[in-house]
Amino acid sequence: MNIVILAAGQGKRMHSNLPKVLHPLAGKALVSHVIDTARGLEPQRICIVYGHGGEAVRAAITAPDLVWVLQEPQLGTGHALMQALPHLAAAGTTLVLYGDVPLTRVETLQRLLHAARDSLAVLTVELADPAGYGRIVRNAAGDVARIVEQKDASPEERSIHEINTGIMALPTARLAEWLGRLSNDNAQQEYYLTDIVGMAVADDLPVRTAQPQSKSEVLGVNSKVQLAELERVAQRRIADQLLEQGVRLADPARIDVRGELLCGRDVSIDINCVFEGRVVLDEAVEVGPSCVLKNAHIGSGARLAAFSHIEDAVVGPDGVIGPFARLRPGTELGPGVHVGNFVELKNSRFAAQSKANHLAYVGDAVVGSRVNIGAGTITCNYDGANKFQTVIEDDAFIGSDTQLVAPVTVGRGATLGAGTTLTRDAPADTLTISRARQTSISGWKRPQKIRK
Ligand code: UD1
Ligand code: CA
Repeated sequence: MNIVILAAGQGKRMHSNLPKVLHPLAGKALVSHVIDTARGLEPQRICIVYGHGGEAVRAAITAPDLVWVLQEPQLGTGHALMQALPHLAAAGTTLVLYGDVPLTRVETLQRLLHAARDSLAVLTVELADPAGYGRIVRNAAGDVARIVEQKDASPEERSIHEINTGIMALPTARLAEWLGRLSNDNAQQEYYLTDIVGMAVADDLPVRTAQPQSKSEVLGVNSKVQLAELERVAQRRIADQLLEQGVRLADPARIDVRGELLCGRDVSIDINCVFEGRVVLDEAVEVGPSCVLKNAHIGSGARLAAFSHIEDAVVGPDGVIGPFARLRPGTELGPGVHVGNFVELKNSRFAAQSKANHLAYVGDAVVGSRVNIGAGTITCNYDGANKFQTVIEDDAFIGSDTQLVAPVTVGRGATLGAGTTLTRDAPADTLTISRARQTSISGWKRPQKIRK
């Protein structure tokens, strides 16, 4: 079996410099959805017909198994398939997909391929408003006779509600002859792929149809409005899958997964969370409202409170994060770590049970177990040119409003007094403090306003 993905159209109505099929849906280019669906059918070959702006598409979609075929100029869907013909395996079926129709289910296409096993099959749907689509014309016996494009259709044919989705499965051995006979003598002066349906009927081949489970499977993207509509469809499908796996979603209409979200048992996700890249939530993780997670692994039983932002980071089991915590790339937290509000961590490891509960910046640090980092603590990791590491050993206590001027080490069990500016290593099990001694001046008076 061959799959040919037609993607040479311009997509003018997107009003964008980005080629249409590269616009993201659920975090992935439209055409990548189609390619992934195609791969799900395990074809011998996947051919992509590209045209206008196509070099950008080719550069963006790097997969060694794809055959790229340039169609220049674009003279219609039949002409597009003709360009792919020399690259197809000669036997079996050729399945035609569109690069801008992203949500077709693999099972639907399997049914279409089954219907086409001895002939030709077209994926069709009944639309209340069929305007713009090619219509499926059937004979008195109800068999498909041909497809007529909207612009070539008689008023009677325009009243047909069964439309051609464009997705069809064809016997490859017949393609060369049929495509060779296409003419562009029609309203759009294009070579219509749809004309080969009538040719198959004339050759006494049975033409069958199959229908998708839902209409959203055959919706194409021609504008930002349609892209936004399909985004909601895609998100709802992902949400339904999560619910079926047992994930608790506060509202399946208010979650956005722009990548891969893997969840253990008893995970719960509150409203308005965004997941990007590959996110893993282990068993019983609770994600509060409005969290953003990108390429993150959250350990079992961890709780992320509202508005936490986590990117390229690992949270250990039973961690307690947020609200308003920011874990930047390279953050790795061990079991039971607490990170509170307005705490920013970057490229830092925290071992078990350590805490930074309020208003801190910890960057390029290695923090031991059971460390307490007080409010207002800052690692001064950057001197304007280079970055340096801070090491805080097990059981250290960092007083509030401390600056740790890296490179610097706080020894095991050390205590830093509040307000310390640490520029040299702090010895283990010792209090280190660097602030002016407090004095009180008795008899001091506040200045008085001078009378003139
Ligand atoms: C086509 C069908 C129509 C069907 C409709 C479904 C034909 C003649 N008509 O119409 O029956 O109802 O799709 O949406 O097939 N493309 C190329 N090269 C070309 C022309 C198109 O690669 O020269 C690609 C486009 O990128 C797109 C697909 O083919 O992915 C369909 O093209 P489009 O112009 O949208 O076809 P329609 O005229 O809408
Ligand atoms: Ca179209």
